Amino acid sequence: MSEPFQEQLRALRARSLHRKLREIGSAQGPEVQIVGRQLINFSSDDYLGLAADPILRQAAIAAIEEFGVGAGSSRLISGTQSPHAALESALARWKRAPAAICFSSGYAAAVGALPALASKEDVIILDKLCHASLIDGARLSGATLRVFPHNHLGKLESHLEWARREYPAGRIVIVTEAVFSIDGDRAPLRELVELKKRFQAFLLLDEAHAIGVLGPHGRGLAAELGLESEIDAALGTLGKSLGTSGGYICGSRDLIDWLINRARAFIFSTAPPPALAVAATAAIRFLLSEEGETRRKTLWKRIVQLRKLLPENKEEFGRPGAAIIPWLVGDEQRALDLARALRTEGFFVPTIRYPTVAKGAARLRITVSAAHSALQIASLGDAVRRIGGHG
Ligand SMILES: Cc1ncc(COP(=O)(O)O)c(C=O)c1O
Repeated sequence: MSEPFQEQLRALRARSLHRKLREIGSAQGPEVQIVGRQLINFSSDDYLGLAADPILRQAAIAAIEEFGVGAGSSRLISGTQSPHAALESALARWKRAPAAICFSSGYAAAVGALPALASKEDVIILDKLCHASLIDGARLSGATLRVFPHNHLGKLESHLEWARREYPAGRIVIVTEAVFSIDGDRAPLRELVELKKRFQAFLLLDEAHAIGVLGPHGRGLAAELGLESEIDAALGTLGKSLGTSGGYICGSRDLIDWLINRARAFIFSTAPPPALAVAATAAIRFLLSEEGETRRKTLWKRIVQLRKLLPENKEEFGRPGAAIIPWLVGDEQRALDLARALRTEGFFVPTIRYPTVAKGAARLRITVSAAHSALQIASLGDAVRRIGGHG
């Protein structure tokens, strides 16, 4: 029985595509313990260093004392506790949206929402580099799918023309990311909004890597550009800048009501632990505070510092967008070798390979956090130059 998997696993190893879990024996933070070794961590999406922050720890501990651990049932049965309602109100207020709904993860938000937004009479148009959760949600919907090359507005426009012509009565949903999870660059949001208005399409924007990083109080790219009211569905995760776990969608009251009634990943799943909702609410409160803005400014200081230290050949390190800096390597084995060399020097930077990216498009993915010290950033910049042969 296991033979077919052995063969498949051998094939993965032969192509340097086999992946394995790496156990971290400490809390998340700028330094982590991996197999007993302390490494400077440039791998996490905990951009504001909130995952192990005392503010969140204390909020969660107090909530466990009051509400216990499990939510006991799905949200529509009896799993909606006051912390879930408070989190959704806080999210809507922070994002300046009429309403919000929470899911157990960002992945669940995408695979829950998209099949509720579109069905076989509709069209979903996605950016080629959209996250797997958006692709899976789009496929699950049964809608006709079209993909446009990354950030290619011309191709998006021609897909929109085609969709309006072929599906005159259908809904057209454009799906993209504010900051792309692997390349770290931004969507051309102003132009996207113009197109969606011209073709009366619906825009779902995944802000997983933009919230906490961009816009006033970390409200994201749409907020930075003054376009919040133009986003029909703003999807995000609580698991990155907000330091906890879970996903959300912000939008109109009717949209949220529809998702409560139709999003299967919401309806048929146990509600997230109430203590997590309390911790996420504390994270939003933090983002709205002066201290939160100071932390976000520190993050930007660190991002700018690292960008300046990286080699001149900017192509190799992607387009500046937010806190993700890809080191585009190409060959899978070379990416693994560079990551190993960095580990030897005391840095943990993960490799990203197929199927997360195309074959032959392997890279290292450096993520910067406000919790990094200027010294840690300087030493990474130095190591990247040396190891990459940039002198
Ligand atoms: C762009 C994007 N969307 C959605 C998700 C999923 O969020 P979560 O980790 O909360 O499931 C991720 C996280 O990996 C992501 O990078």
